[in-house]
Amino acid sequence: MNILLTGGAGYIGSHTCVMLLEQGHDVVVVDNLCNSKVESLKRVEKITGKKIIFYQQDLSNAAGVDEIFKHQLIDAVIHFAGLKSVAESVDQPLRYYQNNIDGTLALCDAMLANGVKNLVFSSSATVYGNPETMPINENAPVGPFNPYGRSKLFIEEILTDLYASDKSWNIALLRYFNPVGAHPGGLIGEDPSDLPNNLMPYVSQVAVGKLSELKVFGDDYETPDGTGVRDYIHVMDLAEGHLKALEKLQAGPGLVTYNLGTGRGCSVLEMVAAFEKASGRQIPYQIVGRRQGDIPTCYADPSFAEKELGWTASRGIDEMCADAWRWQHMNPKGYL
Ligand code: NAD
Ligand code: WQD
Repeated sequence: MNILLTGGAGYIGSHTCVMLLEQGHDVVVVDNLCNSKVESLKRVEKITGKKIIFYQQDLSNAAGVDEIFKHQLIDAVIHFAGLKSVAESVDQPLRYYQNNIDGTLALCDAMLANGVKNLVFSSSATVYGNPETMPINENAPVGPFNPYGRSKLFIEEILTDLYASDKSWNIALLRYFNPVGAHPGGLIGEDPSDLPNNLMPYVSQVAVGKLSELKVFGDDYETPDGTGVRDYIHVMDLAEGHLKALEKLQAGPGLVTYNLGTGRGCSVLEMVAAFEKASGRQIPYQIVGRRQGDIPTCYADPSFAEKELGWTASRGIDEMCADAWRWQHMNPKGYL
């Protein structure tokens, strides 16, 4: 198939590119590089020996996006492009709504105009807010409590309305849990442009000596060791989930929603210990107060994706940490 990846130069997009190219698909990427570098795509080409067609362009440029569909024969779209920092979204809600929602509207318009109706959307477990029961299945109530999370939920609703208006669309809403790790070759990985917001890139940068110590946000939660528990999922498992979702779309399922997680929760301190083991480096840390907006525990019930897509995450936290460390160690300054 010929797949268009919006945001394909980013962390999850670049890993999915590798997987798609290795499976014999052709890949077109559109990305404005606001949070990524074109070097990631060059590395993907190096890993796979295949070429990527790249458009450096903002998705909200409707005419530009339409041009892509006019010039390329696209079978399906994976829509990764979006801004993703929770804290930044609280400070700049309009920028987040504008970027994430306008971009999606322009994309869907262009898809409709060009008769492409197969779409995989990067949603997030953040749409569940603070769920009452664990593990979280797809029928759990939604209720995100920050602008980033709301932008994801609004887009899910827009896509649901679009499907209701025209049942010939096939749309997979993928709710990712906590993606971590890197391609095992060490050439591509997560490369935050600023101070990392998320735990694992922060830990990696402490291990490599770029940051001095980790701040652990709270050890007084009702969890086994008091620190927050999350469902960390290897980015290569996540990438495989996208391939399975694309396959599913070929069977014409309509609009479907899947959790992509492992079903296992790990605490902050467990992840720190696993990273120390993988890297052979000590991770100095200090326990500080809770981070505003954090929830104690979050992990998926991934059984629906297993049943419907034949997909499960197979990589454990040791592999996640080993692969994240290889990337960080081989590229201490990221892509440069
Ligand atoms: P990322 O920032 O590495 O990748 C997103 C890409 O989109 C970047 O390359 C960026 O330059 C591009 N982009 C952003 N706005 C754009 C626009 N208007 N036009 C064109 N390109 C644009 O992020 P990621 O971690 O790879 O996440 C990919 C998607 O998955 C995002 O939608 C994110 O919200 C979602 N998601 C990520 C996580 C996570 O923890 N990484 C968890 C759940 C969901
Ligand atoms: C994990 C755990 C922190 C950093 C966020 C978004 C979510 C999704 C994934 C996109 C928590 C603790 C963290 C640090 C720490 N993104 N922590 N010190 O908060 O589960 O989810 O990223 O959709 O929307 O909210 O991930 O990696 O930030 O935190 O102690 O420096 O690590 O308190 O318990 P989170 P995270």
